[in-house]
Amino acid sequence: MQARSISERVDYVGAIDWDRRLFDSLIPLPDGTSYNAYVIRGDSKVALLDTVDPAMAHILMAQLDGVPTVDYVVAHHAEQDHSGMIPAVLARYPKARVLCTPQGKTLLAAHLGIPDERFQTVADGESVALGGRTLRFIHTPWVHWPETMVSYLEEERILFSCDWFGSHLATSQIFVTDEARVYEAAKRYYAEIMMPFRKIIQRNMAKIAELEIEMIAPSHGPVYRRPALILDAYREWVADTPGNRIVVPYVSMHGSTRLMVERLVARLSAGGAPVDQFDLSVADIGKLAIALVDAASLVIGTPTFHRGPHPTVYNVTHLANALRPRVAYASIIGSYGWATRAVEELAGLIPDLKVEILPPVLAVGHPSEESLREVDALADVLLERHRQAGLL
Ligand code: FEO
Repeated sequence: MQARSISERVDYVGAIDWDRRLFDSLIPLPDGTSYNAYVIRGDSKVALLDTVDPAMAHILMAQLDGVPTVDYVVAHHAEQDHSGMIPAVLARYPKARVLCTPQGKTLLAAHLGIPDERFQTVADGESVALGGRTLRFIHTPWVHWPETMVSYLEEERILFSCDWFGSHLATSQIFVTDEARVYEAAKRYYAEIMMPFRKIIQRNMAKIAELEIEMIAPSHGPVYRRPALILDAYREWVADTPGNRIVVPYVSMHGSTRLMVERLVARLSAGGAPVDQFDLSVADIGKLAIALVDAASLVIGTPTFHRGPHPTVYNVTHLANALRPRVAYASIIGSYGWATRAVEELAGLIPDLKVEILPPVLAVGHPSEESLREVDALADVLLERHRQAGLL
C-alpha cells in the first residue's frame, strides 16, 4: 500500500484489516476495521500519529519507506492496535520521541517496554511546533482508556481523535462517502467501546466544543470531511435523555419463553412502543448493543437452566451492565420447570444500571393464559412508564 494524502501536509499511512471479525476476543466486526496512522510533514519536524496493529506491521513499514525522518511518534492511546508498532518505529528512527500523556507513558512502558528516555509527555493544552504546522494536545480521558488524548492540527483544523469518533469499517476509501453506512458502524463502535464512559465523554465533548474543526481523522474507519455527521450523533448518544425503545433479548429452549416474549412484544407494539427483539442464540451482539444506545427499557427473557438463568442470557446481561446504557426500566420474563432463581441472579447482575425493576413474570412450563395475561400487564406498565416519561 502507498501512503495517501488527506490534506496538504498530512498523509494516511494506516492499514485496512478486511478480514478481522472479532475485537478483544468479544466484539463482532462484521465489516472488518482499519488502524489509521498519519504522518504530518512540518517544515522542520515530522510527526507520526499512532501506528497499527502488529498483525499489519508490513503495511505500516512499507509506507514508512517513503518517510526518511520521524521526530515525534504521537501515541494518543496505549492500546496495542494503535501502539503495538511503536517499538519497531522507534528502532527505525533512533531520534524519535514518543509524545503522550503522563498516564500514557506509564501504560506504554508497561505494555510495550518502551524505555524512559524515549518519552516526552505533554500537558493538557500543550502544543508542539513542527514548522509551519502546530499540533495541540487535548487530554480526553476514557475515550477509550484513562490515558487517552486527541490532537488538533491548528493550521488545517484537523482533529485526530484516535478511538473516539471511530468506526470498525474496512473500506478502500479514506474519506466517508456513504454516510448511512459509516453512521451505523460508528454507532456500533460507540455502543461497544464508548457507551460505558458516556458521562465523561460529555465533558470531553465540552472540551473540544471551541475548536473549529474541518476534518475528524479517527484511528478506526474513514475520515470525516463533514464533522457534523459524527459530532451531532455523539451529542445525541451521550445526552442524558434516553431514547424511547424497548429492548427484549431472550433465549428459549423449548418455545415457552419465546411465547411470552412474542406476547409481550405484540402488546408493546400495539401500544405504539418501538421494540427490538433479539433471540440470543442467533443474534449479533453488536446489533443488540446498538439497540441499547436508544433504549429506555430492557426486558430479559430466559428459561431456567438448572436453577438460574440460561448461561447465554447470563453473559449478555453481564455485558449490558458493563455497557451502561441509559435504560430506566427493566424486567424479566421466562419459563421454568420446577424451581428457579433466575430473577434473583439476573437482578444481581445489573448493579450499574440505574433502573426501576418492574414485576417479573415467570411461568411454570408452557405459559398458561393466566401467565400470558401477566405478560400483558407488564407490557401495560411499561407503556405507562414510557408515557409518563414523555417517550410515547
Ligand atoms: Fe482502537 Fe482502544 O483501541
